[in-house]
Amino acid sequence: MPQDIQPQTTDVLPFSQACENNKAPILAVLKTAFANTKQVLEIGSGTGQHAVYFAANLPQLFWQTSDQAQYLEGISARCLQQGHQLGVHNLGLPITLDVSLPWPINGPHIDAVFSANTLHIMSKPKVEAFFNGLGEYLPRLNTLCLYGPFNYQGHFTSDSNRRFDDLLKQRDSESGIRDVEWIVTLAQAQNLTLVEDIAMPANNRLLHFKHLLA
Ligand SMILES: C[S@@+](CC[C@H](N)C(=O)[O-])C[C@H]1O[C@@H](n2cnc3c(N)ncnc32)[C@H](O)[C@@H]1O
Repeated sequence: MPQDIQPQTTDVLPFSQACENNKAPILAVLKTAFANTKQVLEIGSGTGQHAVYFAANLPQLFWQTSDQAQYLEGISARCLQQGHQLGVHNLGLPITLDVSLPWPINGPHIDAVFSANTLHIMSKPKVEAFFNGLGEYLPRLNTLCLYGPFNYQGHFTSDSNRRFDDLLKQRDSESGIRDVEWIVTLAQAQNLTLVEDIAMPANNRLLHFKHLLA
């Protein structure tokens, strides 16, 4: 569904109403999917709202934020301000990570990846780079959770997702809602298998993958 990230000003943190709406339903899934996880890399942290909330509510793990350079200031501000208010100690300030560039990652510590509402923003070559990067840089990866809108065999799951896809393509002709089947194929090439495909509010899905060798 549409994301509504508001730009950062000097005294207002970047904010997405969609994140406020979806964070509790996502957490309910992550509590099980990340039950044995020690360190999560979030790709495309956006406003940082998910990161602060999930770190606060999953105290057994460490949550590392990341995004493209232009988002780092806002994510840092949210992690520092809101993370401090909530007494969160398991949250990493963001690192610059563009999936299509070399990943600046200390990979052996990371056993899970979370990414929300990113694959329909990225071009198809960048989605491929996302999955290639998982295999190249994260040798201990055993869990991958992807949240967002997805199609099945080219079919939209709702009229609102169809309209959202039109909007995406008006903004960037290379963006668009991705087929679950294609994502599963890209994941399988990195030895990741789909174990759950969960219906989420507002016509979104949560795709939970496990590493075959984990
Ligand atoms: C719609 S926002 C979603 C942000 C947040 N995860 C959320 O759910 O609100 C899309 C995110 O994808 C990130 N993104 C787009 N292209 C990327 C790339 N090549 N590498 C890493 N992140 C990228 C953007 O920087 C942005 O944070």
